[in-house]
Amino acid sequence: AHVITDLCQGTKDQSCVEVCPVDCIHPASSIDGVAEYESTPQLYIDPNTCIDCGACVPVCPVGAIAMQDDLTPEQQPFIEINAAYFRIP
Ligand code: SF4
Ligand code: F3S
Repeated sequence: AHVITDLCQGTKDQSCVEVCPVDCIHPASSIDGVAEYESTPQLYIDPNTCIDCGACVPVCPVGAIAMQDDLTPEQQPFIEINAAYFRIP
């Protein structure tokens, strides 16, 4: 799956949300509650829905999104951080 790293924090541009063809970048508790993004430090990708199309990567103005295999060692924890966000009921 693709992963959003901490480079998103402070920007949360949300262009990624608009281009994702499978809507896998969304608040954990809602598929259309954009306001709920305000309570998270950054956005996250649901790894169980992401189809690795790559559309979100070039639209992010801060380069926060990468294929999980391309993350730096320091960014590796964000694989689990993204996945964990969607385990919230
Ligand atoms: Fe959505 Fe494609 Fe980005 Fe995955 S790689 S989050 S499917 S836009
Ligand atoms: Fe964040 Fe970039 Fe999306 S800043 S909200 S990952 S477009």
